[in-house]
Amino acid sequence: MCGIIAYIGDKPATPRLIEGLRRVEYRGYDSAGVAVLGEDGIWLRKSTGRVEELSRLVGEGTKSTVGMAHTRWATHGGVTVQNAHPHLDVTGRIAVVHNGIIENMHELKAKLQAEGTVFRSETDTEILPHLIRHYYEGDPLKAVLRALEDVRGTYGIGVLFADHPDMIIAARNGSPLVIGLGEGETVLGSDPQAIVAHTRRVIYLDDREVAVLTRQGCQVHKLDGRKVAQRQQVLDQDWGLAEKGQFQNFMLKEIYEQPESIRRCLSGRIQIDDGNAKLGGLNMSPRELVAVGGVVNLGCGTSYHAGMVGAMALEHLARVPARAEIASEFRYRHPIVSRESVYFAVSQSGETADTLGAVEEVTLKGGQCMGIVNVVGSTIARNCGQGVYVHSGPEVAVASTKAFTSQMSALMAFTLMLARTRNLSLEQGQQVARALLDIPNRVQEYLDAPGPIDEVVASVIHARYVLFLGRAFSYPVALEGALKLKEVAYVPCEGYPAGEMKHGPIAMLEKGTPVIFLAPTDAHREKAISNMKEVQARGANLIVVHNAGDAEMASIANVSIPIPVVPAYLTPFLTVLPLQLLAYRAGLALGRDIDKPRNLAKSVTVE
Ligand code: F6R
Repeated sequence: MCGIIAYIGDKPATPRLIEGLRRVEYRGYDSAGVAVLGEDGIWLRKSTGRVEELSRLVGEGTKSTVGMAHTRWATHGGVTVQNAHPHLDVTGRIAVVHNGIIENMHELKAKLQAEGTVFRSETDTEILPHLIRHYYEGDPLKAVLRALEDVRGTYGIGVLFADHPDMIIAARNGSPLVIGLGEGETVLGSDPQAIVAHTRRVIYLDDREVAVLTRQGCQVHKLDGRKVAQRQQVLDQDWGLAEKGQFQNFMLKEIYEQPESIRRCLSGRIQIDDGNAKLGGLNMSPRELVAVGGVVNLGCGTSYHAGMVGAMALEHLARVPARAEIASEFRYRHPIVSRESVYFAVSQSGETADTLGAVEEVTLKGGQCMGIVNVVGSTIARNCGQGVYVHSGPEVAVASTKAFTSQMSALMAFTLMLARTRNLSLEQGQQVARALLDIPNRVQEYLDAPGPIDEVVASVIHARYVLFLGRAFSYPVALEGALKLKEVAYVPCEGYPAGEMKHGPIAMLEKGTPVIFLAPTDAHREKAISNMKEVQARGANLIVVHNAGDAEMASIANVSIPIPVVPAYLTPFLTVLPLQLLAYRAGLALGRDIDKPRNLAKSVTVE
């Protein structure tokens, strides 16, 4: 969702701000704006639509070396230029960019209006510059601290004062901000992508902290004004600048990165000799592992699907009760949190508000929550304290692909670790370890020869309805395939457990309806074949993803997509690949904006 970049340094700010916005474009937005300090005060440009439009509007910009910019994903108020950030106070000398939601907006707005403040937008954000102005007596930090005392809600903000061209103020509560410390320049970003072009030396702001950024660095304060000691860190190497390279867009690039991203997640963690795995970030001894009475994987969307696969693997291999839960539902059903269970918050961004809410619920009820997170230093990773980084590297396309396979990799590593403490012998553990370490090769093998995806594309792009089916380990993949096709191509579809088809969705089938059946060879093969016959009897177009060499499946299917053979519990790594490619190519055929599908945001920081 909304993105922030702010720059104070010795070079012109505008091109750096526009470039920074391009790097956070992937988060999803519908308007953008930039404010820099000029000789006559604040120079402001805003537009709806893409950063490209803003860039045209800004042109050469000004020579100013201080400024900030924002991409907005509409919450309060429509997609208009007035509602785009930055917002100014009545005098036009204070500018604010804001991610998050001011919950007591109406109360504060009424108070300011009673004093004669005229609002120019429908946003909650506009409260902030007016409120800061209200308390401003020449000291920017004091004014911001005082204003934030009145505010309830979440915020990550940047504030510019025309009277103080040598500083930018930033504050955080529930909406992430990271500060980059470069040579003679300091940069503020809503995520590391916005700043890695400048520096890898960073400070992550914590909740209820305010920072004063200058060209020389930054000083962090608590909301009560107390200074906080410096705590810099250096961004990981795999957190490089995301570039498309030879690929047409990020989604395709990220699909093809999977052999490497899975390898990176497993490397150094899976040990063939011991038939075991080591996840240092969990900090769990064998004694603690043996005591684990259950596992709950919490996540949303694709991360929830990875959690489902992980839960199935845990029950299958470690014989530990395990389940996945949709994080956005978790805390609202007043869940029972068991102290014997391990809770995992599975999240690519580490910023998903719903997942964060679930983490808070587990913690509040005395449970132990650990992160399975991609973005290093993200809120979920930091709130959990312990966990596993999946090391996918930056995932830029809104539709998640490589994060899914990396999350499954991390959960498989944990499964192996847990299984070895109870259910698996050394030899069995070694078999699992070998099979797991071979996955990147099998994924590469498939991607090198993906089969007749375009035939499937032709069948789905004008379909009124597409059904994805799978049993057991293929069921979460069916859900994931449908989610991808909806997100990227906007084709109406759903994923279902294959056995449930006859309990309802079969009514949707008519001549030519594409039914995509995930049927790698497993214990459910015969049942899957019966379901396929039922599908074909209704005239549907049966597309089957099956093990290479399974001639019977190939002959039943109207379109056959073979995948390399792996153990049943690892098939999701392979069965998901044709579905990712299908969504991608269907989106392309329909002229969709592949990396930035409509209405979606990469990190969903509101509930
Ligand atoms: C799907 C997708 C979303 C995310 C979901 C959770 O392609 O991108 O469904 O998986 O919003 O996001 P994270 O993993 O960042 O918590």
